[in-house]
Amino acid sequence: MTAPTTRFALFTAGLLLAACQGDLSSEPPVHLNQNMDQQNRHEAQEETSVFENGRAMRNHLEGTVPVGSLREDPRIYAGKTAQGDFLKTLPAEAPKGEKLELTKELLERGRERYDVFCTPCHDAQGGGKGVVVDRGMMQPPSFHDERVLAMPIGQLYDVVTNGARNMQPYRTQVNVRDRWAIAAYVRALQMSRRAPLSDVPADRAGSERWGTR
Ligand code: HEC
Repeated sequence: MTAPTTRFALFTAGLLLAACQGDLSSEPPVHLNQNMDQQNRHEAQEETSVFENGRAMRNHLEGTVPVGSLREDPRIYAGKTAQGDFLKTLPAEAPKGEKLELTKELLERGRERYDVFCTPCHDAQGGGKGVVVDRGMMQPPSFHDERVLAMPIGQLYDVVTNGARNMQPYRTQVNVRDRWAIAAYVRALQMSRRAPLSDVPADRAGSERWGTR
């Protein structure tokens, strides 16, 4: 081939290739090296003849747990001892081996979460007269009723987790640690009305702040 012919051939080839760029086409693109980019597979909800029930989507095997999600300790996750009794104290540990101690920080967190999730019905002091009750929703019991006062903290955690009769559960909205923080804060709300004077630090008891109550 002479040089001008070669140049012309290259030029034409270049033009042809460039012309393909940006064109709209309903055909699948030319894919010379397939690698494993395209494979036979089923889309979600598709039928298949492979399985007897005709569904391509399979259920999880019973008892399958995602890595890191094994909720083994009933104290932390259910608020109960291995024998099924409600805990009377915090479980000392939160998920992932974190500590769960009754600290001011935990109570602050509990108050913050309580204000978000519980106040609309139970009101800020736990009297059960939240704003939705004014709008006709069922009135919850007061946390200061003998019956609720007598509940072990594990049961308060259980109510937040699983709900109770007409009250909805919060296990999907509030994580385990925060549920314990809320339970601890409910306990603090209860104590705020019942604590004997002997619980007040000596340097605060009898001060004007307490005297005015
Ligand atoms: C939408 C309103 C509503 C919200 C929000 C709500 N509760 Fe309740 N709660 C109720 C009602 C209603 C009852 C009474 C249920 C019944 O007796 O049928 C109740 C009952 C309870 C009880 C007593 C359970 C028992 O066995 O008697 C506790 C404790 C409690 N709630 C805690 C909480 C906490 C903590 C939160 C926040 C995480 C919360 N609730 C959020 C409506 C609510």
